[in-house]
Amino acid sequence: MTKYQQLQQALKEKPYRWLITGVAGFIGSNLLEALLKLDQVVVGLDNFSTGYQHNLDQVNAAVGQHVWSNFRFIQGDIRDFRDCSAACKDVDFILHHAALGSVPRSIEDPIQSNENNISGFVNMLVAARDANIKRFVYAASSSTYGDHPGLPKVESVIGQPLSPYAVTKYVNELYADVFGRCYGTQSIGLRYFNIFGPRQDPNGAYAAVIPQWIAALIRNKTLHINGDGETSRDFCFVENVIQANLLAALTNEPEAINQVYNIALNERTSLNQLYGMMRDLLIERFPHLENHQPTYVDFRKGDVRHSQADISKAYRLLGYEPTHRIGQGLKQAMDWYVMHLS
Ligand SMILES: NC(=O)c1ccc[n+]([C@@H]2O[C@H](COP(=O)([O-])OP(=O)(O)OC[C@H]3O[C@@H](n4cnc5c(N)ncnc54)[C@H](O)[C@@H]3O)[C@@H](O)[C@H]2O)c1
Repeated sequence: MTKYQQLQQALKEKPYRWLITGVAGFIGSNLLEALLKLDQVVVGLDNFSTGYQHNLDQVNAAVGQHVWSNFRFIQGDIRDFRDCSAACKDVDFILHHAALGSVPRSIEDPIQSNENNISGFVNMLVAARDANIKRFVYAASSSTYGDHPGLPKVESVIGQPLSPYAVTKYVNELYADVFGRCYGTQSIGLRYFNIFGPRQDPNGAYAAVIPQWIAALIRNKTLHINGDGETSRDFCFVENVIQANLLAALTNEPEAINQVYNIALNERTSLNQLYGMMRDLLIERFPHLENHQPTYVDFRKGDVRHSQADISKAYRLLGYEPTHRIGQGLKQAMDWYVMHLS
């Protein structure tokens, strides 16, 4: 049995109280579904700035009304300290995911990124400290590697940030570390690489590449590839992220705490390869894709050329063993994409 399987079994036998911030978003709603299915009690906080009621409705439908009654939703904002305090009350573990994502969004509007991702983060840390929670697990980001060219990325070697978003995510790590030193707050930061899966928003100017492309393929719309298509990423299915969060919240290894970890697969997929994989998975259901061709446009500002994670630290200290490679994740999520993006 893996560490994760043991942990899932232990959780089934002992319910804890969890707070998920950003619960109406992509990753937050997947965490919610997983925790409710493990009979946990969950409080969720979200202001619906980039999240949706329909994400919560889908979780409700997936778990059933009886289990859903273990969830309490607070519509509130992490920029408001009172909302943070109310949400942290009587909570054991916090999975902090509320933030404004997207590098281009932060380049357009650094003030909003700063307020949500830094001021909101500090509010949450203070509220968590005051509520004496057991552990604060938070969404960090691979953008923190910035302009450092080394591959694969190891946690201790970072470069200069390339966007306001990257600055906010790095500052989160610094604050979490300082709260450990000054107040003894236990935290773990998870540097997510490119996460994908059901409920990731396909719409809007800041949509992530996978849901955006799948929507374009299904709808037979123009699909833009930035640059020559040889830019590569370590795409990671959301089930692996759920595993990382639960392992991080519950580890009892002292050396594993107050650390940051890469969460990905240690694999690199180019945009051209990604396009081919998606097209192959969809072509049976959508014969129009036989003639579909991508359109190549300019490179995107602030993008790094290649990204790939060394995940040995998460394996060694947390017992993180990804269960889904990119192809398996895409295959598993395809029914959801087809149902919701057609
Ligand atoms: N998806 C990825 O590939 C990826 C990669 C690296 C890091 N992350 C981080 O993971 C977290 C979750 O990302 P996601 O992809 O699920 O994004 P998302 O936009 O789907 O979810 C974020 C959620 O936070 C909520 N939110 C934003 N600001 C808020 C505020 N001030 N108060 C309360 N709620 C607020 C939004 O309404 C949304 O529901 C974010 O912190 C993001 O920066 C994601």
